[in-house]
Order: sequence, then structure tokens, then C-alpha cells
Amino acid sequence: MTQDAPQPNPAEAYEKTIAQNVFVPWRADLLERAAPKPGERVLDVACGTGIVTRVLVGLVGSEGKVVGLDLNPMMLGVARTLVPTDQAPVEFVEASGTDMPLEDGSFDLVVCQQGLQFFPDLAAGLSEMRRVLVPGGRAVVSTWRGLDEQPLMALVDGVVSKHIAEGAFEAGFKLAHDEVFAQLARDSGFAEATVEVATIDLSIAEPEKFMPVMMMGSAAVLPQFASLSAEERSAKIGQMMPDLLAAIEPHIVSGNLIIKSATNVLVASA
Ligand SMILES: C[S@@+](CC[C@H](N)C(=O)[O-])C[C@H]1O[C@@H](n2cnc3c(N)ncnc32)[C@H](O)[C@@H]1O
Repeated sequence: MTQDAPQPNPAEAYEKTIAQNVFVPWRADLLERAAPKPGERVLDVACGTGIVTRVLVGLVGSEGKVVGLDLNPMMLGVARTLVPTDQAPVEFVEASGTDMPLEDGSFDLVVCQQGLQFFPDLAAGLSEMRRVLVPGGRAVVSTWRGLDEQPLMALVDGVVSKHIAEGAFEAGFKLAHDEVFAQLARDSGFAEATVEVATIDLSIAEPEKFMPVMMMGSAAVLPQFASLSAEERSAKIGQMMPDLLAAIEPHIVSGNLIIKSATNVLVASA
């Protein structure tokens, strides 16, 4: 198998691999539940490279407004270059979701795709989402279920634990329990909160090219990757590849990598 050289900018690598192959397919599910309407003011928390933000602008239109918020300036840099600017007023804010520089009651809808679980304080993140919503406003928030329900990611976790740090890949899967999540939302002030479980089998072409760039993209999200220098990261990814390619082999069907992916989706109202 041939391998493309890993890309130098983790946010661009994230957009090209994880965002396009994992978060674009999941975006439809999130937006169907959120049902943004023309004229609404929508906040995309932990917007990353703006996979959701860039579709929201077309859904709320020129009478609405969209704000994307993320902690990582590299992610926001990519988001700014890819969002259409002629469909709705749109702006990006660099801040933590646990302390948002946004006014109380200033949004009709908050969405957050696979971001909340990375916050240092989950309850603070949910309280902030509720605070910025109008009374009766809604929040739709997805977080992965556990690694025991995502066999391929569990294998990747094993490889990353061996080469980088035990559990370095686990941060994304730590808000896995649906009832715990729903109760946390109620305890954070949401009037109503339910969590549903959704699954998708993702199919990814050219897995041997996808994997090294995906690992580079993980550096935009996972602290233990991000803290390595660019050279260390490339070297680590090179070292990990034989183990990663061996791990994914049983999950390749007709040349495509099949990833069983399961998520919680919180639907809550303020
Ligand atoms: C897996 S990515 C998801 C990005 C985006 N929602 C998507 O669908 O592609 C997780 C994002 O959470 C952001 N993040 C992590 N901790 C954060 C915090 N405390 N406040 C705001 N964003 C945070 C990261 O910078 C990253 O962009």
C-alpha cells in the first residue's frame, strides 16, 4: 500500500479527512433534528472548520444569523475560508464553550456536533448553551457513544495508546451514556431534554491514504497530539502506520473502510 505524506496543517487535514468523511455524513442527522428555519439566529458551538456552519447559512437565510464558536484559531481559519458569505450574516468567535462572550437569550437554536465532550467542564458548556438561548429555544448536541460501540475506533485507540499515550484517543468518547447526558442537560437548566441514539456505517474510499491524514487531523482535536511538534507528529504517525493499517484491514470491504459509528443526540429546550 502507498501512503501520502501527512499534511502539515492539522486543521486542513481535519477538514479533508475527518470532517468530510465522518462529520459531513453525520451533519444531515443533526440538522434534521434541529430543523433550522429561515430567520432564526443559530449558534454552532465547537464549530471546528465549519462543517455545520456552512450549511446553516443557507437554511436561515438573509433574515437570520449564524455564529460559529470554537477554541482553536486554526480551525476557525479554515472555517472562515469555506463558509459562504452571501447567504446570511455569519461570524466566527474564538472562545471556550464554557465561557462564551455572547449575550443571554440571543439565539433561537444552538447546535454542537461532537464538541461538548472535549470541554473541561461539561455542565458549564451545557449551562452556557442554555444561557444564550431565548426561553423555549432549542439545543441539539451530539457526542459519540463509547468505544465499545465503535469497533474500528477502539482499534485505533489501542494503537494510539501504544505509540503516544494511554487513552489519548478516548477524550472524544467520554460523554457516552445517553441517560447521564440527558440528566446533565436537565441539571444544567434545560426545561426538557431527551437523548436519542443514532448509528451510521461510514464508508471511506482509499483507506491507506485516509489513515495518515486522519491521524494528522486528530492533532487539531486531541491535546496529546497537538502538544507534539510538527516533526514529532509526522514521525509518530509514520511509526504508527503499520499497526494502524493492520488494525483496519478486517474492516475493509471492496476497498472501502467501513466504520460503524454510534452517537448520542441531545434534543433539549431552554
Ligand atoms: C471533533 S471537532 C468537531 C468540530 C465540528 N463541530 C464538526 O462537526 O466538524 C471538536 C471541536 O471542539 C473544539 N473544542 C474543544 N474544546 C472546546 C472548548 N472548550 N470550547 C470550544 N470549542 C472546543 C475543538 O477545537 C474542535 O474544533
